[in-house]
Amino acid sequence: MAAYGTGMYEYLAKMAPIVEKEIEKTMPKNKKPAEVYGLLWEMLERGGKRFRPALCLLCCEAVGGKPRKVLPAAAAIELFHTLTLIHDDIEDSSLLRRGEPCLHIKYGIPLAINAGDGLFMMTWSALLGLKMPPKKILEIQKMLMEAFSRLMEGQGLELSWHRNENWNISERKYTQMVSGKTGALIGAACKVGAYVGGGSRRQIKRLDDFGNNIGVAFQIQDDILNLTGEEEKYKKEIGGDITEGKRTLMVIHALKKGRAGERKRLREILEKHAHGRKELDTAISIMRRCGSIERAQRYAKRLAKKAKKDLGVLKKSQAKDKLVELADFLVEREV
Ligand code: IPE
Ligand code: IPE
Ligand code: MG
Ligand code: MG
Repeated sequence: MAAYGTGMYEYLAKMAPIVEKEIEKTMPKNKKPAEVYGLLWEMLERGGKRFRPALCLLCCEAVGGKPRKVLPAAAAIELFHTLTLIHDDIEDSSLLRRGEPCLHIKYGIPLAINAGDGLFMMTWSALLGLKMPPKKILEIQKMLMEAFSRLMEGQGLELSWHRNENWNISERKYTQMVSGKTGALIGAACKVGAYVGGGSRRQIKRLDDFGNNIGVAFQIQDDILNLTGEEEKYKKEIGGDITEGKRTLMVIHALKKGRAGERKRLREILEKHAHGRKELDTAISIMRRCGSIERAQRYAKRLAKKAKKDLGVLKKSQAKDKLVELADFLVEREV
């Protein structure tokens, strides 16, 4: 199953069809009604990086298991992830996802919400493909239920900052929020992989921590790319986080460390949900001047380094090497 000896892009590209085939088993592409399945298949077929299922398969293999065994859960995690993207884009009033207009922009909010609901159903349908004793399946469901809950709590916390016009966010609170909205599912991908692969309790716990930490680092890099990346590669609108008024690590830092005038101007731009190029550039240059972007980059790299230490619970293997590589990729990527 594994495709070793290639770079990370190539590796993920080779793993993706394996997961996609598993997804297709639970839901044929031409399934009717098209108003539901057509939309959700469109989002799936736009193609994401698929690194969550890749982590799940790799963690299974890295503890000595057969990755095929965990494939239904890896597919379920990708399905649930895709659902969160559709709903998140509605919550964030975003425009672009996976290189094309978000589903709610293209088909309207009601059908987009419903397509997300369809993916929730497919998540559980994919899990029915697990072939193991019911007790083990229940344990996997519990792990996923906990991760889904933490994701929802993280999303809720972030959305409440917007709703309550809360700008006074500590870095500790920020990390707690990101660990929920992004880290939990990535951690669960690793944890479930290790569990199905027959890993020890210690390995399962450490791989969960590894996933959580690289998840937070990945989100920080994602928010950096939102300011400095290229739309062609990033496949979401550059500067969209400023329009959204998102409290990223860079925003939190600049609002604390900037000069009085800079702080006032940055907050103004964020609060008015500006989308003009000039104001977006002003906000970015304030964050640059404060050193907020570089600082966030260093923070993400430090987290990835810390995460990789947890891989010390694994014996030497090609799967372990790929996990190290994947952790580096997530904080160095431009896509
Ligand atoms: C996007 O996740 C949501 C975040 C947590 C930033 P991905 O960047 O993994 O999205 P796709 O699946 O590759 O589109
Ligand atoms: C990421 O949300 C987490 C989830 C989608 C659950 P964000 O809002 O931070 O990510 P992007 O920038 O829209 O992908
Ligand atoms: Mg968003
Ligand atoms: Mg969001």
